[in-house]
Amino acid sequence: MRKTLCLLTAVAALLASCAREVKEPAAPQIIPLPEHLQMLEGSFRITADTPIWVDGPAEFTRTAEFLSERFETVTGKALRFAEEFPQSGAIYFMQADGYPAEGYQLRVESGRILIESTDGAGAFYALQTLLQLLPAGCLSDSRESVDWTVPAVDIEDAPRFPYRGMHLDCCLHFFDVDFLKKYIDVMAFHKVNRFHWHLTEDQGWRLEIKKYPLLTEKGQWRKETVVGSLSSGVYDGQRYGGYYTQEQVRELVQYAAERYVTIIPEIELPGHALAAIACYPELSCGLEDHYETATKWGIFKQVYCPKEETFAFLEDVFDEVIDLFPSELIHIGGDECPKASWKACPHCQALIRREGLKDEFELQSWFIQRMERYINSKGRQIIGWDEILQGGLAPNARVMSWLGEEGGIKAAQQHHEVVMAPYPKYYLDYWQGDPDSEPLAMGGPTLLRTMYEYNPVPEVLDAEQRKYIIGVEGCVWTEYMPTPARVEYMAWPRMCAIAESGWSSAPKDWDGFTRRLETHLGRLDRLDVGYCRNFYDPFIELRKDTEFSKVALLSVDAPDAEIRYTLDGSAPTASSPLYTGPFAINRQQRVTAAAFRDGKQIGNIKYKEF
Ligand code: ACM
Ligand code: ZN
Repeated sequence: MRKTLCLLTAVAALLASCAREVKEPAAPQIIPLPEHLQMLEGSFRITADTPIWVDGPAEFTRTAEFLSERFETVTGKALRFAEEFPQSGAIYFMQADGYPAEGYQLRVESGRILIESTDGAGAFYALQTLLQLLPAGCLSDSRESVDWTVPAVDIEDAPRFPYRGMHLDCCLHFFDVDFLKKYIDVMAFHKVNRFHWHLTEDQGWRLEIKKYPLLTEKGQWRKETVVGSLSSGVYDGQRYGGYYTQEQVRELVQYAAERYVTIIPEIELPGHALAAIACYPELSCGLEDHYETATKWGIFKQVYCPKEETFAFLEDVFDEVIDLFPSELIHIGGDECPKASWKACPHCQALIRREGLKDEFELQSWFIQRMERYINSKGRQIIGWDEILQGGLAPNARVMSWLGEEGGIKAAQQHHEVVMAPYPKYYLDYWQGDPDSEPLAMGGPTLLRTMYEYNPVPEVLDAEQRKYIIGVEGCVWTEYMPTPARVEYMAWPRMCAIAESGWSSAPKDWDGFTRRLETHLGRLDRLDVGYCRNFYDPFIELRKDTEFSKVALLSVDAPDAEIRYTLDGSAPTASSPLYTGPFAINRQQRVTAAAFRDGKQIGNIKYKEF
């Protein structure tokens, strides 16, 4: 596909230079990159008189309605559904045999737009692509005068992985349902099809469970929240809480399903359980007099004690969770469970002896396997973070690999399905620019380019083992994201890179990606996504060298840009020295840089000193 685009671009350039009056349409800038795209002659203009024809089940009609609603939002007039088959001039949504799962063909000709797919997801993804063939104004949330002309094109497309996920932690900070709908909309626009909803934590329990009302009456609250980094020792003194009613959950699950997003709920066990234990201390090892919802970020030793009351509680909770969420996969957490309480607990130690377990790691595995049997008995499968490998993987478990790649590799070698969500490569809570000028984050930086270039299928796996990598996920832990605006800032546009790695099998092409992204940022603007705008800003890295010198490396994401810099603190201009490669600076010098295109500064000035 990349080759087709390059070739087309070259042909377009050649034609433009030979005959200036013949203007070839530029190849469309689509994210994620479609598998196969061929430009055709001409274009099709959607007007208020363009009929829609659907030949397929109701979900195809729902997708066609999305198009009609979009047109109405921007133009004030809905597109109409034809009552009789229109011979031409229409937008056709047709179900047809033979397309891969979620795959589609989108053919735009002068006389019609034809969408074909076998499943409803394919038709929905064809629509997302069609929306990217139109001017960005067509994505607006209000009336706008836009030309709804689509270039003629033939696109055949299908995803690389079945699992293309985005996570959101709604415990460390809470986000309302309206924001979650927007989050899901933007995911779906990028053909991301799994929303991993992190609902329980040490710092708050966010899901209404009818049988245990205390979980939300009390467990949603923490008495205050740490200010600044987790070790600042300063607290805000403000009670903080929030939870989702089951009615809201059902509504969101339905909303997501219409957009081909499956919501995977995460109920953490055996660790990250302090909020639940604060409500029901009998679920713990009982080593302390008092349990309280956590007020700072981190890992806590108060975990579920593997006793019958705990399993009865968890089974009740999962009964309600399974009733609420149709997802085949249920996330059971499994990460960061310290073993100190189990070591000191007479019940846990007796259980280890009775079951002939080697240690507390095997007890963790025993705990997970018992929960897996229960969840499997309800017809569902478990997925958990890497640590569910401790003491042996449960027989049917899927692994979400976050501790680098090692866990994912091990699991795939054991023929367990794996979702790659490695930190820090796919952790969207890490800095995306210079920490000196970015808001507080977890670590990093993990730049857009690093995320884009990450290959989610580890080289060490053989062909058979590689089949067990079922997809990718971007993780959004919200320690330092107290507002929807901050979530969007951290997640986008880096999530575009992860979405592309999840969808597209094409070889990595950073330059091509940045060209498409530059257009795509205009779409994110229309979707009102408050993404990070450092695309045009230089990133200055000072690498340690001697006591008296450091080596400066400069880069910028925007394509066709040059970086100009100064070392005396003055603002760079179009005639300042051009950055051509790494250079050394001394203690007195300050690197001040900006990106330029055609002699004009295109982003912000950035600086860094020793
Ligand atoms: C994790 O970041 N603790 C999965
Ligand atoms: Zn115990």
